[in-house]
This record gives sequence, structure tokens and C-alpha cells, in this order.
Amino acid sequence: MMGRLPFMAGNWKMNKTTGEAIDLVRELKAAISGVKGVEVAVAPPFTALYAVCKELEGSFIRLAAQNLYWEEKGAFTGEVSPLMLKEVGCHYVIIGHSERRQFFGETDETVNRRIKAALAQGLKVIFCIGETLKEKEEGKTFSVIERQVEDGLKNLGDKEMENIVIAYEPVWAIGTGKTATPGQAEEVHRFIRGKIEKLYSREVSEEIRIQYGGSVTPENIKGLMEQANIDGALVGGASLKAESFSKIVRFKEL
Ligand code: 13P
Repeated sequence: MMGRLPFMAGNWKMNKTTGEAIDLVRELKAAISGVKGVEVAVAPPFTALYAVCKELEGSFIRLAAQNLYWEEKGAFTGEVSPLMLKEVGCHYVIIGHSERRQFFGETDETVNRRIKAALAQGLKVIFCIGETLKEKEEGKTFSVIERQVEDGLKNLGDKEMENIVIAYEPVWAIGTGKTATPGQAEEVHRFIRGKIEKLYSREVSEEIRIQYGGSVTPENIKGLMEQANIDGALVGGASLKAESFSKIVRFKEL
């Protein structure tokens, strides 16, 4: 088996004006220059994508968007198409983030449509899943994850899976300071990988990267990355400062 390349992505959510975004990537480039053996991406808000893309020229840091719409173009006021993101230099797009599911009506079905549209345009996808606190307390973690994986990935073949990264983000751990323990996260990651093996094959399940997200910090990243099935992190708050995000990227040195 080929080792899975660790992948650290910063989801900036609705933070950073274009000017602030440029400052942050400048600092980040300096703070992680020369780092090897880890893939890194940043996901600024739409308005900053173009400027950040220019700033990242010649850098190994990848650009990601936080969402897209599945249609190519047309009368869809306020939406952004896969081609628009591709043209502005995006390599990845985050799809199905719990904040989209909670506040903007995203469902497993719309997540699936978005994933297909992104892949068709040659974008790689960070596909987010995770249970809410209520679901966890009702003992539904695994059934929720199973449904999100099955329905979110519906009708996607082995080849398409090569361009998908899964991000397991328990909703109760997002922005709360309550990280899942490495053991708790690993248990769900193992379950997700097992589910991918059932839906696809051993090979696909061994190659797919599964990031953990939810209150990841420089203090807890090492313990998470020591787990066999945790291949990286999708970082919110701690990605808004070069100092903390660069430490997460440099987790091997901690
Ligand atoms: P925090 O790291 O701020 O908890 O956010 C996690 C997240 O939602 C990343 O997508």
C-alpha cells in the first residue's frame, strides 16, 4: 500500500477581506516554506480567491473554494459555478460543510449534485460529513455517517473517488473547543474507511484520505495524526493565523 499523503486544509469560512487574506497567505508562505511530505490548502471566501491565487503563484499551497453550485451558468442569482472556480485557480472545493447543511438547506442530495458538478469540471472535492450533538447523544453517529457517505457519493465510480477527500467533522466539535479525542475520531474514521471498502473496494478505501475537523489546534494535532485512519485536518479557527496553522502543517516537528 502506498502511504497516504497528509493533507492540512484551512477553511477560513466568512473571514478575511481581500487585503487581510493577502497578508495571511504571505505570512503562511514564509512560515511553511520548505516543508515536505504534506499537502496544504487554504479556502478563502469567494471574494478573495483571485487575489490569493495570484499571491500563491509558485507556491505549493493549493487554493480551495468553500462551496459551488451545480449548474454551469444561468439565472441563479448569488451562485458560483464550477468553471468560475476553476478559472480563478481553485484546485479543491469544500462541499457539504455542516454550516451549509445547518444554515443553508444543504442536503445529502444537493451535496451529491455539487460533488458531481465539481468533479466534472476537474475540481477535487473535500466532502464533509459529521453528526450533530443531538444525533451523537441519541447514539446515531454511525447511522448518520453511513447515510451521508452513501447518499453524498451516490453514483460515483472508483475513478471519481481518486479526486475526493472526506472530512469527518463532528458538528459538536466545530468552533466549540471540544475536539473529539483521537480515539473517538479514529473510531469513526475507521468506520468511514470500512464503509468505502464495502461501497467500492479495498484499494479505494486504502487510498482515500480522511481528514478530521473540529477544534483542531497545534496542541491536539499530533495525537490526531498518530491515528492510523486520520490523514489530515480541516481547520477552521486555527487556520486564520499563520502562526497556528503553520504549526499544524508542521505537525511532524511538534
Ligand atoms: P474549527 O476548527 O473552528 O472548529 O472549525 C472546523 C471546521 O468547521 C472546518 O471546516
